[in-house]
Amino acid sequence: VEYPDLVIVGAGLFGLTVAQQAVEHLGVRVQIIDVRDHIGGNAYSYMDEETGAEVHKYGAHLFHTSNKRVWDYVNRFTSFTNYVHRVYATHDGVVYPLPINLGTINQFFGAHYTPAEAKALIAEQAGELAGTDPANLNDKGISLIGRPLYEAFIKNYTGKQWQTDPSELPAGIINRLPVRFNYDNRYFRDTWEGLPTDGYTKWMERMIDDSRISVSLSTDFFDASQPYNKEALKAAGVPVVYTGPIDRYFDYRLGDLKWRTVDFKEVRYDEGDHFGCPVMNYSDADVPYTRAIEFKNFNPERADSQNPNKTVVWEEYSRFAERGDEPYYPVNTAADKELYAQYEQLAASEANTVFGGRLGTYKYYDMHNVIDTALTAYENQVAPLLRK
Ligand code: FAD
Ligand code: NA
Repeated sequence: VEYPDLVIVGAGLFGLTVAQQAVEHLGVRVQIIDVRDHIGGNAYSYMDEETGAEVHKYGAHLFHTSNKRVWDYVNRFTSFTNYVHRVYATHDGVVYPLPINLGTINQFFGAHYTPAEAKALIAEQAGELAGTDPANLNDKGISLIGRPLYEAFIKNYTGKQWQTDPSELPAGIINRLPVRFNYDNRYFRDTWEGLPTDGYTKWMERMIDDSRISVSLSTDFFDASQPYNKEALKAAGVPVVYTGPIDRYFDYRLGDLKWRTVDFKEVRYDEGDHFGCPVMNYSDADVPYTRAIEFKNFNPERADSQNPNKTVVWEEYSRFAERGDEPYYPVNTAADKELYAQYEQLAASEANTVFGGRLGTYKYYDMHNVIDTALTAYENQVAPLLRK
């Protein structure tokens, strides 16, 4: 084969951003490969024919940012709807607004507290364990927001996320539990938020709509029978941007980095609207899933192209990932961080190769973080390789 100037492993937002930048600034030829049969990485979505819902295949994705560089960049490829993210939670047969705010508190206590009264009440309840160092996540939660709200909204939800009783989890998993002493239940606090007007996949297709960018799907970097594989590219000295799992790149030689994953169970209802909102959390232990996503409700502006009598919901079941599962959230214990630091050392001495994205750097990144780090990695690490 005649090699391109740059090979990018992974057609997620990190890889697509680097590809776009390399072509725009240096006019090079870029080959993107992805082991999946679609571009977009975890932000990929597709249209569900029966309901007209845009299904986010790897879990609900909401775009939000306060970073002007990222906002200006993404707006070159898509416009955004005026969607504002809000989440509700079912506890003990009653629906409450989240994050915990004055509406949640007054509904929960059947009261009409003012902001100051609610603040005093929570401080008093949080004082239950005053003077002690929280020994585990359970004690930490109680000391942050008091036992009643912690047990109603945090304890079992967190237990389901980690498949572990919070009294067995380290206190350090949460640093703060935000409580708002007003009725604002807008979930994100960023300057900009919204959903891509014609969907995630159209947005990402436009990023690489250039004849100098080629994409090979269903192509594994570690499959020696395809031309853009690790050993062949190394031998030929072709610059590589690698956005797959960093431990996999080194054959797991130092051990496996730990991740949590999510299993999705699809449920279809013969009704136009099942929840009346896009995200319903389940705070109690008797419902085995953490939350359910009703995709139609992310795009109310598309009512005309949606089925008024059918809806599709995905229930999310959280668990620890095994090799071969989709890695979603880094577990990030002290041992994981130490292991990652060792892999990072190996990565630093890998010639012509830039590690990036959430898998390549073992980090939970929102989309705006990934785009920001990709723009920086392009400038600082990738462009110098291409100019050589
Ligand atoms: P990915 O999107 O994971 O792309 C990496 C690509 O590399 C994948 O397509 C993979 O197939 C490919 N690859 C891996 N190994 C190989 C190989 N050997 N050969 C070839 N290709 C390979 N962000 C938000 O901003 N808002 C949200 O609401 C939000 N919700 C999320 C919900 C969930 C459940 C998850 C997991 C993430 C969420 N995110 C959200 C984060 C968002 O998904 C990431 O920021 C973004 O997708 C990361 O892009 P990436 O390019 O780093 O990685
Ligand atoms: Na192209």
